[in-house]
Amino acid sequence: MSSGIVRLSHAEVRVPDLELAVAYYVELVGLVEVDREPDRAYLKGWDEHQHHSLILNRAPTYGLDALAFKVQGDGELDALAARVEAAGVAITRHAPGELAIGSGDIVRFRSPSGHVVDLEHGQLQIGNGIPKLNPPVGPGELKGMAPPRIDHIFLMCEDVDGATAFFREVLDFRMTEQILADDGHQLATFLERDHSTHDIAFLTGPDGGFHHVAYWVDDWNELRKGADACAYHGVTVDAGPIRHGATRGCGLYFFDPAGNRNELYTGGYWFDPDDEPTTWTESEMGRAIFYYRGQVDRGFMTVHS
Ligand SMILES: [Fe+2]
Repeated sequence: MSSGIVRLSHAEVRVPDLELAVAYYVELVGLVEVDREPDRAYLKGWDEHQHHSLILNRAPTYGLDALAFKVQGDGELDALAARVEAAGVAITRHAPGELAIGSGDIVRFRSPSGHVVDLEHGQLQIGNGIPKLNPPVGPGELKGMAPPRIDHIFLMCEDVDGATAFFREVLDFRMTEQILADDGHQLATFLERDHSTHDIAFLTGPDGGFHHVAYWVDDWNELRKGADACAYHGVTVDAGPIRHGATRGCGLYFFDPAGNRNELYTGGYWFDPDDEPTTWTESEMGRAIFYYRGQVDRGFMTVHS
């Protein structure tokens, strides 16, 4: 029984100063600007084939407008839509190009966690800039940190148990890891569809909260170079480079000019559908988040958008 969700597709993020944000995401982070509208910019990692993995919306404040998952086929999208409605969640349907330049067929709903979620099939494919016949390993000149692709999104909500159950039961996400409070409720969960450690994760906090969006880099050394670039350009490094206990990933956290948290991420492991989830106890939460320091950073847990 496959729900047809392939992976995290993209995030839509609010920024008050669109020009400043584009400069930051293109020159420092190293995303590729693909399209522009008066109040919107479309970006992607260099190795992504689809039109966008990050949409910047000009808005008075910062935060997350929507997140989207890539769905395998038309039939799968219809089946998922029916399951979401059967779970008592209202959906809207959107034709290709209706919600964004290059968008495919989209089913949109608000998840129990308070986030606007899009399930999308058929986003415009524009290629990764290198040929399919005898290609070089990259497109040549790359700017900034130059992550090849989006990796995961980390959200906050009041009822992590409820949000996790919805994503597992309705959307067929697999839980790879969880952090359990002493009273048994879930403080954080990590969920995947792409066989990595997580496409999406939830942390206890306010409904609709946005903790960070992460782009993949190929190794730990890229995190050092990313931190060097942040320091050089006066960008606030929130944490890292660090190692997580949960997911065994490595990350670097920093803020865009609007205050949205970004992560460069690498490492982790592969998760098979028949693997069992890993559990962390509340007393070991520090090690789960920041493995070496072994302490939960208060700012990391409480600052969000
Ligand atoms: Fe992350």
